[in-house]
Amino acid sequence: MNSAPQVNIEVLQRELDQLAAISESPPPVVTRVLFSAADLKARAHVKGLCREAGLTLREDAVGNTFARWPGRDPALAPVATGSHIDAIPNAGRYDGVVGVLGAIEAIRALKRAGFEPRRAIELIIFTAEEPTRFGIGCVGSRMLAGSLSLEKAAALRDGQGKSLEELRREAGFGEHDLRQVQLAPNCYAAFVELHIEQGPLLEREGIPVGVVERIAAPSTLRLQLTGVGGHAGAMLMPERHDALLAGAEIALAVEQAATTSGSPDTVGTTGVFRIKPGAVNSVPCRAWLEIDLRDTQVSTRDAALGRIENSVDQICKQRGVSFQLQRLNVDAPAICDPRLVQTVAGVCAELKLPAKKMVSRAYHDTLFMAQVCPATMIFIPCRGGVSHRPDEYSSPEQIRRGVEVLALTLARLAQAAA
Ligand code: GLV
Ligand code: MN
Ligand code: MN
Repeated sequence: MNSAPQVNIEVLQRELDQLAAISESPPPVVTRVLFSAADLKARAHVKGLCREAGLTLREDAVGNTFARWPGRDPALAPVATGSHIDAIPNAGRYDGVVGVLGAIEAIRALKRAGFEPRRAIELIIFTAEEPTRFGIGCVGSRMLAGSLSLEKAAALRDGQGKSLEELRREAGFGEHDLRQVQLAPNCYAAFVELHIEQGPLLEREGIPVGVVERIAAPSTLRLQLTGVGGHAGAMLMPERHDALLAGAEIALAVEQAATTSGSPDTVGTTGVFRIKPGAVNSVPCRAWLEIDLRDTQVSTRDAALGRIENSVDQICKQRGVSFQLQRLNVDAPAICDPRLVQTVAGVCAELKLPAKKMVSRAYHDTLFMAQVCPATMIFIPCRGGVSHRPDEYSSPEQIRRGVEVLALTLARLAQAAA
């Protein structure tokens, strides 16, 4: 490198603003659900930026996108970075996007500094980190890691009953072969994801960078409840088998299971609760719930999961409501690679940036990339720890520092012989 990489935060900030404007909802809300018109437009936009940066593009059968800066030694495994650009309904503009646009700027900064990587540097834009469409998160990285079998992937259905197969074909990925999505073990030398913390610790402690050592274990349940509908005036209370009320009791049981698990790290959320017919003078006959349960420890997460499943059984029996319960995913936590964590911490020390080693309570594509190769994450603070909300915010300076750490980390890793 002729000089230290200089991050152009004005350009990156403009690009963050441009991408935020590609949304299914009016600003400041960002919503980009997998394979929606906004998701497809955002993909095209980001691929354009990659091309302008001189990167070579490849896509796979589920729409994972790979943008490569070739290295001097093609025999060596590339170093990878990346994140996602899909966004849950009513989201903000930084979750995932900082790790994608930030990586493009990190690569441009390295190029401007005259850096010539020995190993290729590859940006991965993962398909559907968010669970909105299919109920499970990290569809793209799960498949890259071989953690979602082709049979299970084929069985995924969205809220309208559309399959992944139909949707990926409609989105233009039909010519690619699903069997070729899974990566070979150690096809990358390392994976490093830049992301906002989505929690309050870095801001609270005034620390600009977090280095992730572990990612909490997520799980998701999907529940369909079938009761008996009827006239809200004519159907007497003892006759009722109200699907919503069963669902409401179950949502409280989720809260109870999380708060009494014995671990302060167990968190349970009933984030989806839809009813049918949804008319004020009609007893709800159907309800659909999706429940998210996580912990940094598998044992307490699994025990709480078991208690929730028992509660579903008991509550439905008591209320005469039938149910179908599906475990959509029950994942292990990720342990990040200690050497890689040290590399990032060393870069922070070199840049004189205080850094904190930490646990990620949110999940990320790194959860699955850690099954493929040594992996870790770089966290930057976000205001009030707020995320998955339109008022999510990281300042230009916070982003600039994160991108600088990413750029230098990629440079170190791309020069390493082993
Ligand atoms: C990711 O968006 C998560 O829900 O942790
Ligand atoms: Mn998210
Ligand atoms: Mn994210």
